[in-house]
Amino acid sequence: MIAAIRGTHDILPGEVDKWQYVERYARTLCERYGYAELRTPVIEREELFAKGTGESTDIVQKEMYAFTDKGGERVTLRPEATPSMVRAYIEHNLEHTLPAAKLYAMGPMFRYERPQKGRYRQFHQLDVEVFGMEDPAVDAEVIDLAWSLVTGLGIAQAELVVNSVGCPACRPAFQQALLAALGDNLAKLCGDCQRRSATNPLRIYDCKVPADQPIIDGLPHSVDYLCDACATHFAGVKSHLDAIGIPWTQSHRLVRGLDYYVRTTFEVLGQALGAQNALLGGGRYDGLVKKLGGADKAAIGFAAGLERLVLALPESAPIGTPARAFIVAIGEDGRAAAWTLLRALRQAGVPAQMELEARGVRSQFKRADRLAARVTLIVGGDELARGEVTLRDMATGEQRAIARDAVVTTVRDAVASTVGNKL
Ligand code: HAM
Repeated sequence: MIAAIRGTHDILPGEVDKWQYVERYARTLCERYGYAELRTPVIEREELFAKGTGESTDIVQKEMYAFTDKGGERVTLRPEATPSMVRAYIEHNLEHTLPAAKLYAMGPMFRYERPQKGRYRQFHQLDVEVFGMEDPAVDAEVIDLAWSLVTGLGIAQAELVVNSVGCPACRPAFQQALLAALGDNLAKLCGDCQRRSATNPLRIYDCKVPADQPIIDGLPHSVDYLCDACATHFAGVKSHLDAIGIPWTQSHRLVRGLDYYVRTTFEVLGQALGAQNALLGGGRYDGLVKKLGGADKAAIGFAAGLERLVLALPESAPIGTPARAFIVAIGEDGRAAAWTLLRALRQAGVPAQMELEARGVRSQFKRADRLAARVTLIVGGDELARGEVTLRDMATGEQRAIARDAVVTTVRDAVASTVGNKL
């Protein structure tokens, strides 16, 4: 047997119902908030992420599925969606063609990480991006969408954490203060921290090594070094969140692992996910559109991990099984009549099935049960002679005769009134 690659997963029938529910909920919500879907390729030039995600990130340094293609070009499976969304926004002049530059995408991402619960090598994100708007109300609207996604799916005990990491005007002073406060202690920190102190000192706050924590706890906080414009912006984001009743906590440790962030950063953390507790994360990245060759546009967004949302979904989520009809055929005449009825039902939009191979009545009813059919139609010699079929409600066991020419509309109504998967 050839097994699936480590860190990748088949999503089996049954499990897929949860995925479809989460995906459908996410799409409905994005469209309700005015976002248009954009689909970009899963394969891109390596350079897009080296420049976009950032050379100093773990993603670019050690996690990309990058290779030289047969034409000699360096390409990679995308590790995240944001640089692709920016590329497409610039490449297709979406600034001029879209009524609002609010975009979402959904699909697989690839990172060569160490797999564990909630962390995979192929995983899926819902990605949400807004271009060209700087007002703190935009940050709050994006955070509102993120929060509504998690709470609307019924995920309890979620926590929204926010921070501001400043901008190119105020960050150098903060980085200097951080390095000055570290002083001789730098040599006592882990290798990752020492490397980060040279490339992106903020990321020392991402360190999880227990021995490093007492030193990290004594370091300065970015919010104490914000310039006036950044401080006003951050205060604006928080007051907009308060105005719409979204609960937040502030953490100076929320620096995020990607290089492009400025000002607002945020994450929604879930319980019951173990170490990989971020359901979603994002923030502002005002300089990135320009860096990737576009106009000087502000931007903000987030991405949610679909695996993590599915894992955190409560038992009570109204996933539902789609309603179906099943036809039980008795005898050769019954089978012939059932076969035409089956097609007529499907043409009318009713999910319907029957046993295509001849089976006894009991075994056909067993199959109807296994398929969780809402109604069963019994088509047999006696019924046909009377120009009728028998309709059985599988939940109540009630049976009634229906005229053959009324069958399609009756079954369609019976099934439509019980269709699952409601939002
Ligand atoms: P990120 O924090 O790298 O941000 O990923 C966002 C979310 O994707 C995480 O919170 C997590 O739920 C999920 N995720 C990340 N890596 C894995 C993995 N290996 N296995 C399972 N789930 C994972 C970004 O990707 C940014 N592009 C977000 C963004 C959009 N910022 C601005 N716009």
